[in-house]
Amino acid sequence: MGAEGIRVEKVSGRIARLCEKTANGASVPGSTGIGHTRWATHGAPTDINAHPHLSNDGRFAIVHNGIIENYLALREELIADGYVFRSETDTETIVHLLEKYYDGDIKTAVMKTAARLEGSYALGILCADAPDTLYAVRQASPLILGIGVGENYFASDVTALVAHTKNVIYLEDGEIAMLTPKSIQVFDCTGKLIQKPISRVTWRKGGYEHFMLKEIMEQPAAVKAALAPRLHDGEIRLDDFELSAEKLRSVNKIVITACGSAYYAGCSGRYAIEKLCRIPVQVELASELRYGEPMVDEHTLVLVLSQSGETADTIAALKECRERGATIIGIVNVVGSTIAKLADHTLYTWAGPEIAVATTKGYTTQLAVLYLFALYAAEKLGRLQKAEYSALVHSLKMLPKRLQETIDMNYQIPALAGRYTSQSLFFIGRNTDYAVALEGALKMKEISYLHAESYAAGELKHGTIALIDEGQPVIAVCCNEALCDKTLSNIVEVKARGAKVLALAFRGNRKIVSQADDVIFIPRIETIFSAALAVVPLQLLAYYAAKEKGCDIDKPKNLAKSVTVE
Ligand code: F6R
Repeated sequence: MGAEGIRVEKVSGRIARLCEKTANGASVPGSTGIGHTRWATHGAPTDINAHPHLSNDGRFAIVHNGIIENYLALREELIADGYVFRSETDTETIVHLLEKYYDGDIKTAVMKTAARLEGSYALGILCADAPDTLYAVRQASPLILGIGVGENYFASDVTALVAHTKNVIYLEDGEIAMLTPKSIQVFDCTGKLIQKPISRVTWRKGGYEHFMLKEIMEQPAAVKAALAPRLHDGEIRLDDFELSAEKLRSVNKIVITACGSAYYAGCSGRYAIEKLCRIPVQVELASELRYGEPMVDEHTLVLVLSQSGETADTIAALKECRERGATIIGIVNVVGSTIAKLADHTLYTWAGPEIAVATTKGYTTQLAVLYLFALYAAEKLGRLQKAEYSALVHSLKMLPKRLQETIDMNYQIPALAGRYTSQSLFFIGRNTDYAVALEGALKMKEISYLHAESYAAGELKHGTIALIDEGQPVIAVCCNEALCDKTLSNIVEVKARGAKVLALAFRGNRKIVSQADDVIFIPRIETIFSAALAVVPLQLLAYYAAKEKGCDIDKPKNLAKSVTVE
């Protein structure tokens, strides 16, 4: 907003295009502004559908993160009222509602508009009648206010603010904020002024070139933070709740649901829970489960995994399961997030803020909590001998130390990244190793933009082996020693077709050295806990591949840290 009122500049594609178009913002002078990188939900990713959207009278401009579920009904109503729609978005209904309800009082128009919206939204609102003021309101979508000196901000993720200020206010559902350069006021949904606590964000890259590398290196400390408060004198205690033996005995199925890496953490966790508790575990993608009429009931325990606690699909899956009577345990990093609030019980992963878009310590701390849960439940159910339980608890307690050793012994990864990441890659493994392969391939894809496929090693011969040719890089995870010979046969098969194989195995595994071209070693640990160590070299491999390609490692293209829309 400048002297001539609201000016809108928007383009489809990368933010760099907008910088080019506006000479890095210099061509749109002004003191108040809103912006949004749109994740296309309603309508294609075009200039016209991009945010901000303007009201017909040009008085209001808005940006919106989320989805308005009743937008069709609202659109029809607004068209009948004579409003003209320019885009295909659900968001545009909001700006016309603001115009409709505005009678000179912006805050009241915002409250009346918010009351009409169903779904999720974090809204940034600008009105030409108050050129120095911004309004923000949220419902089921994160919104954070940043307190600067002579300037204030809002954003849907705290990472967007840290370059400008470390002092933030977390807005809750229904709250409305009014920001000017010198003041921030927050109102509840009835318009009453409320006091909000100010939080201090204390992140620094700590000498690392990227947050991702810093967070990889923080994994020993993060896993220790996840484990230590729950390990007491060789026993596991959950935080503020107890699952009684009786409750656990009534459980006939455990469902783990999550998205992306959290889903892959669930795939690893499944092996630990099934092996130790002998309860069937079903791992479901939240985006599938939410529409899958889940077969859960009061005898199902659902573990909902989410670093951010705000992933829209995961929240929806949680709600579906809860409606059917299941008990929900949230395994969440962000304190006070939506999933933490919705779950019956929450186990925080205590990883600390994760800034890089690609998760690393978020994932390993999820594993740590899943391992704790598996051991806790197995003990309650009487499935473990005392000595076996004690040995496993001890092994788990050593996980942070083993993680540090894993990092220390793998200084050669940058060189290996140069040799194995010139083209698309295959990641193979069996059982627990397959679960790690899935996460390794995802890391590679998302930050280096190299195509990577993960396959259960035994599946190769059912089709995929047709793709193995001279020079094809294959990353073979072989930490599950009970199955190592089987995976070795798969290594031999792909090598016979010209593949070059980088294997990942426990220190001292000699067989693997004779077959693979290169080997990455990790310290020995119980097989059911091995994913937490094995993933680290794969994270580093992806990191160095991305670095070599000059990729934007902390903010990979097309990705957001919290996927708060469906
Ligand atoms: C991958 C990654 C994503 C997230 C997924 C779920 O590195 O970060 O795949 O794991 O979007 O996010 P949360 O855990 O916040 O629910």
